[in-house]
Amino acid sequence: MAAAVRDPRRKAAGRSVFWPGTDGESGHIVADGQNEVPDSSAVRVALWRALHVQADPPAHVFEDEVGLRLVAPDDGWRRRPDMDPQGTSGFRAAIVARARFVEDLVVEAADRGVAQYVVLGAGLDTFAQRRPEFGSRLRVFEIDQPGTQSWKRRRLVELGYGVPDWLRLVPVDFEAGGDWWGQLCAAGFDPARPALVACTGVTMYLSKDATTATLRRLAGLAPGSRLAMTFTLPTELLDEADRPALEATKPQAQAAGTPFVSFYTPQEMLALARGAGFEDVRHVSGRGLAERYFADRTDGLRPSSGEDFLMAAT
Ligand SMILES: C[S@@+](CC[C@H](N)C(=O)[O-])C[C@H]1O[C@@H](n2cnc3c(N)ncnc32)[C@H](O)[C@@H]1O
Repeated sequence: MAAAVRDPRRKAAGRSVFWPGTDGESGHIVADGQNEVPDSSAVRVALWRALHVQADPPAHVFEDEVGLRLVAPDDGWRRRPDMDPQGTSGFRAAIVARARFVEDLVVEAADRGVAQYVVLGAGLDTFAQRRPEFGSRLRVFEIDQPGTQSWKRRRLVELGYGVPDWLRLVPVDFEAGGDWWGQLCAAGFDPARPALVACTGVTMYLSKDATTATLRRLAGLAPGSRLAMTFTLPTELLDEADRPALEATKPQAQAAGTPFVSFYTPQEMLALARGAGFEDVRHVSGRGLAERYFADRTDGLRPSSGEDFLMAAT
């Protein structure tokens, strides 16, 4: 087990049984006073990606056990309540579906000659570690909160991956009102050249003001750029069978320190993107991704409804 990441269930004691948080009291203090620990929601989705490989039969929709290596939980991690293979299979499937969709977009963009890939709220994204062959064609910019990112940088070094020149880590808190665009450009992003921007599993944790401001900035990307951003649907738009699970996780996410604060209807998100300056916007539903990646499965694994994509192009 990595020194700085204690078993998340310890902090969960007395707070949240099903949806544990990461122990925010462990780890080092980084320059801005934040603890150098990974965001608990980023850990959870990384573990779900690994669980998909370990618990679901092949063919796997997405193969990623690098995040598990980064987290290095103790041997009992699969007994975490949020890792229950049956009870949370819909969430796990939705996470691998969105990861696969984005990675297909990255490959397609690179084939079009797009050389910049920006990941907003990257968490434990491991594209750069799993697909080093893209290092000669892409520059990857990962943006995340300083504490999470500082932890990740250290773990990448400890595991021997390091941080290659084609991977730029940009510490940003979208709620802090700082100049994330300036920081991105200072890290080597060229605003005159097209980019693919991905933002998965983040807008539910941000205020609508922060997401709107981010969209405004992204609408000014160079022509040929694309954005793929997920948003969480209000409960009433979920399949009926999925509603109790979302409702049950809301207080647990709050207790874990990562409350769900923003929900959007597809119409609202499309209007937000248009208002921010995007002319070419499209909605890709989670149900569509389920059809695309899970239709042939015979094991019953199927993404739960609740998260859709905004696709926008400049
Ligand atoms: C559920 S994780 C998703 C991570 C990754 N995009 C994925 O799909 O695996 C949410 C991520 O959003 C980041 N995040 C949440 N609030 C943020 C903020 N105010 N500024 C920057 N990043 C934030 C968290 O640190 C975390 O890495």
